[in-house]
Amino acid sequence: MDTQAPADGSTPRRKLFIRTWGCQMNVYDSGRMADVLAPLGYGPAETPEEADMVILNTCHIREKASEKVFSDLGRLRQMKEAKAEAGQKMVLAVAGCVAQAEGREITNRAPWVDIVLGPQTYHRLPEMVARAARAAGAQIDTDFPVEQKFDLLPQPRADQGPIAFLTIQEGCDKFCSFCVVPYTRGAEFSRPVAAIVAEAKRLVAGGAREIALLGQNVNAWHGEAPDGSTWSLSRLLYELAELEGLERLRYTTSHPRDMDAALIRAHGRIPQLMPFLHLPVQSGSDRVLAAMNRGHTADLFYRIADQLREARPDMALSSDFIVGHPGEKAEDHAATMALVEKVGFALAYSFKYSARPGTPAAGQPFQVSEAEKDARLQDLQTLLRQQQDEFNRACVGRECDILFTGPGRHPGQMAGRSPWLQPVHVTGPAELAGRSARVKIAAAFPNSLSATLLDMPPLLALKELTPA
Ligand code: SAH
Ligand code: SF4
Ligand code: F3S
Repeated sequence: MDTQAPADGSTPRRKLFIRTWGCQMNVYDSGRMADVLAPLGYGPAETPEEADMVILNTCHIREKASEKVFSDLGRLRQMKEAKAEAGQKMVLAVAGCVAQAEGREITNRAPWVDIVLGPQTYHRLPEMVARAARAAGAQIDTDFPVEQKFDLLPQPRADQGPIAFLTIQEGCDKFCSFCVVPYTRGAEFSRPVAAIVAEAKRLVAGGAREIALLGQNVNAWHGEAPDGSTWSLSRLLYELAELEGLERLRYTTSHPRDMDAALIRAHGRIPQLMPFLHLPVQSGSDRVLAAMNRGHTADLFYRIADQLREARPDMALSSDFIVGHPGEKAEDHAATMALVEKVGFALAYSFKYSARPGTPAAGQPFQVSEAEKDARLQDLQTLLRQQQDEFNRACVGRECDILFTGPGRHPGQMAGRSPWLQPVHVTGPAELAGRSARVKIAAAFPNSLSATLLDMPPLLALKELTPA
């Protein structure tokens, strides 16, 4: 994880290492924790061994994700003890959704942890670090404070690079049967328009050409506008599309229930809105969707997919699936397979249902056996993999703009992202970094594409024509 140097450009006095698991929101939050600690003299460490402070920013979504934290804590204990023997200190913090869910249980299991803090209290981190440094015992803060962390955290670093993330919404009120997010991130909260636009402007000034708006339920965003009215996500997208220099917009993650007609229309009207949407469906069976408390049917999902493609014919969809939710039968799984066949996905993430303590589904009878879950997951992933390969192959021969982010893996190569989020590499000059250029897709690989440059961006062409 990248952490930042002190804002005044001085050499950091202390070193910070952040390890991040989970969703993009956690990646964003890790950046914000680095921002809030920079004024205290914390700059980036390459490894946890050399760090004065280590933060584990954790994810609680599935059992495997949270167990990783405890195995990491075991290793960090040894590092911390080795440092102590050498007369050095290491402050160890557990942040994120496991911290929120487990609270004091973390220091019970791992008493060498100094700080446990939930996702809503990152602005209190400096104070907790100061208290931990005074060896005042483990600091635990998993409040859902009334003050908003966004109002109290420093402005994020502007120079995130050509592709930047901006959190506009946090939390969730939907309470799907299987999901911990409403408990770990709390109630839905939308940031106001002015704060979002100001942050977007700073990102663009710092070189961002693409902004992805983030939220656990990003399309449920409804923010206060400067005139006191409430805007929906589509209105916000029209506003952001006006920003000079911002070429691409995305938003993630959306819920099918909140895909309103205006938002679908916006996909046909805002050229900056990329033709790719991540829209988790979880299951194709209405019976399972009802048990999951998703509040939508398979049919609603079909209609949304059709309308999106009508609005924007080159629209590609990605999704999330869970197999083996309690009560899922063979015919429900068949309905999921049928939905995938019918919709066609460019990309998808699929998971075996993992019972999470405290969620309604965990206590339900008719849990599906591990063997059955394995078989269904394999079945689904084979089909999804096929669709991803087909989608990538269908891109060959297309002309499109690629936003270049930096050098590729091989010398002379530059890498970037297609409008459909695929990694793309070309043979081209280093000056491409941070800009878009027109390419023709030449070949498809399982997880990426290669392309040839069609036009050089004007500035580059000029530079090459100008005699030295
Ligand atoms: N807010 C998003 C999802 C957030 S969690 C939405 O509403 O869809 C990301 C994905 O993890 C979910 O889409 C789901 O597919 C998966 N997931 C969540 N809880 C899970 C569980 N208990 N077991 C397995 N997968 C789970
Ligand atoms: Fe979890 Fe459902 Fe909320 Fe998504 S909508 S975060 S799956 S409770
Ligand atoms: Fe994980 Fe929390 Fe994100 S549980 S997926 S880090 S909201």
